[in-house]
Amino acid sequence: MPLPSESDLQRWLDSATEAALAAGAVLQHYWGNLSRIDEKGRSGDLVTEADRGAEAAVMAVLERHLPASHGVLAEESGVIREREASLLWAIDPLDGTTNYTHQYPFCAVSIGLLAEGEPVLGVVYDPIHNDLFRAATGLGASLNRRPIHVSKTDRLAQSLLVTGFAYDRRETPDNNYAEFCHFTHLSQGVRRGGAAAIDLAYVACGRLDGYWERGLAPWDIAAGIVLVREAGGRVTAYDGSPMDVMAGRLLASNGHLHQVMSHTLGQIKPLGLPPLA
Ligand code: IPD
Ligand code: CA
Ligand code: CA
Repeated sequence: MPLPSESDLQRWLDSATEAALAAGAVLQHYWGNLSRIDEKGRSGDLVTEADRGAEAAVMAVLERHLPASHGVLAEESGVIREREASLLWAIDPLDGTTNYTHQYPFCAVSIGLLAEGEPVLGVVYDPIHNDLFRAATGLGASLNRRPIHVSKTDRLAQSLLVTGFAYDRRETPDNNYAEFCHFTHLSQGVRRGGAAAIDLAYVACGRLDGYWERGLAPWDIAAGIVLVREAGGRVTAYDGSPMDVMAGRLLASNGHLHQVMSHTLGQIKPLGLPPLA
């Protein structure tokens, strides 16, 4: 299947924006007003009426605008439409649920589109700061309709990085703790934002210089990958090879730091900790 045309991408970008803003209104409504917080199975993996309401809002808009041939993979409902579709939407209605439940103001709606598995369009909307990030392949990346670019930082010692820790961190020695220590030692600092979509959006607009994480789902990263690439940055697997959005492990940077970050990741031995009693 050929890549979608620029005019298709532009049209779908507008639909995704409408959907993200509708979901953002739901998140604003429930902010500080949650009546229920449930765990989804794995310890710490939360879901609330805000996640579900925001997902319903995204779907209501997309159902109105999208051709029936498009697949949809949404975090709270799973596959809503054909997972094998060559055009597949990956939707996280609330990225950063843990932050949201604590009213730590760092969360977003993330809506990405994959064409034959490659991210080609992304909208990330932070409803607390009213930051709207948008990008599509060949159309550039923007924040609140103004073009954005990655940073120019070319030395790790001058960089500000970000990472995260997956919900399975207590069950696997591959828990990212050793990587966090190493990069904390080598950079000006490593943040743990708690919302992968915003981590990527911040690399895209130059607030952060690099990001790595494992254990991610396609809905966490599909949109943000397009933001970083269209803003001039790079996104790959840890070893610099092409990224598979379903593999859940990625390295994103402003490009200048990519090689040194990839090399560093390749040197680190996992730091297993004893399981919790
Ligand atoms: C989580 C956030 C977090 C990342 C986790 C994700 P959720 O998404 O993006 O930053 O470290 O791996 O699952 O559960 O808040 O949508
Ligand atoms: Ca998420
Ligand atoms: Ca989520």
